[in-house]
Amino acid sequence: MEPSIRWASGNNRPILMIPGPTELPWPVLQAMSQPPMIQYDLNFDLNILEPTTLALRDVFQTSEGEVILMPGSGRTALEAGAISLVEPGDRVVVIVAGQFGLLMREIMIRVGAQVTEFAVEWGQPLDLQRLESFVERVKPKILTLVHNETSTGSTYPGEAVGAIARRHGALFFLDTVSSLAGIDVNTDAWGVDCNMTGSQKCLAAPLGMAVVTVSGRAWQAMERRTRKATSWVYDLLRWRDLWVPVSRGGKVPDGSPRRQPVSIPTHLTLAMQAAVQLILDEGLTHRFQRHAVAGRAFRAGLDAMRLELFPDPSIASNTVSCFKVPNGVEAGSVVKQMRDRCGILIGTGLDRFRSTTLRVGHMGMTANPLYVLPTLSALELALRDLGYKCEPGAGVASAQAIFAEGTYSPT
Ligand SMILES: Cc1ncc(COP(=O)(O)O)c(C=O)c1O
Repeated sequence: MEPSIRWASGNNRPILMIPGPTELPWPVLQAMSQPPMIQYDLNFDLNILEPTTLALRDVFQTSEGEVILMPGSGRTALEAGAISLVEPGDRVVVIVAGQFGLLMREIMIRVGAQVTEFAVEWGQPLDLQRLESFVERVKPKILTLVHNETSTGSTYPGEAVGAIARRHGALFFLDTVSSLAGIDVNTDAWGVDCNMTGSQKCLAAPLGMAVVTVSGRAWQAMERRTRKATSWVYDLLRWRDLWVPVSRGGKVPDGSPRRQPVSIPTHLTLAMQAAVQLILDEGLTHRFQRHAVAGRAFRAGLDAMRLELFPDPSIASNTVSCFKVPNGVEAGSVVKQMRDRCGILIGTGLDRFRSTTLRVGHMGMTANPLYVLPTLSALELALRDLGYKCEPGAGVASAQAIFAEGTYSPT
């Protein structure tokens, strides 16, 4: 047989349909084409950094919480939250429903928490009643949840878990690394005390920034610490003193230059400013609806190709789809085939599901028929090359039907 044509051979990079980092909108890329600037220059502080952090409050849906932007990634945000609030021996209940719940557990153990794990079968819904009794019994200082478990493509009920935390006097830590700006996350209404994310997923900004919100309750808990946090750079209380103006509860006289506990990357802040502007121009309601329709379309495509979702469909995520590879096909081979032949990069599963599941991100810019339809098409071609047969074009046709009917209805 003749070797197959490699459609991707002229491309210098694959289209990123992995669950982050994701494709970047053109204005975000353009924002970075600037000569160097000085991170402690007042002009950068007043005209770029401050407006960006204030605009991020709207994306996080918080008017009470302070938004802190620092170099790093999602893990930096998680660790900053943990190191700032946990004192050795503090009780923390960590909900573990996948790989990123395990990550939270490890971070909490490292900072000295007395961790009690609330285990949820990967890809299965969370039993809220059982969680409530568990929290009542353990009486933790902090309850943590991964809102969107990227390892299994599942979304958990942030609002209901936040209510449990509140009823039992616990601080609520929420990892929104793969949901913020793609799925509705209401920091204030859900009572989130530390909402932690990274720049490179649904925010559609480049990898390299961590973002954390801190509630009034969380500041008070930090003030009550008996010992200072053991990090110079990531202690959020230091950030409040050096960075937050007096009018918002910090120690920096309003209008005076702030100090930075760590030097802020100027180009990444410019990119974040452009990304946040695009999100607010689009409108949060429209953006969530767009992700919902794109997620539904992708899942309809999988179904038409007789591919089974990994999670229970009732909790399927609108930003990441995780699905099982057909029997006899290896996940890594599908990824390679799609990348080499079609120039589209998707991800394998994680940990023990690495060779049996695949993951696709439909996030930010890629929650769009322009990206979802070619991905389904490339998936079908790759599977066919690897010996799996389904009705030609059925996946794309089903997804297209969802896109055709998916209207935007502001509520
Ligand atoms: C839910 C979740 N939490 C935490 C992380 C870690 O974030 P980062 O890779 O940006 O450090 C990820 C990364 O994929 C994630 O999806």
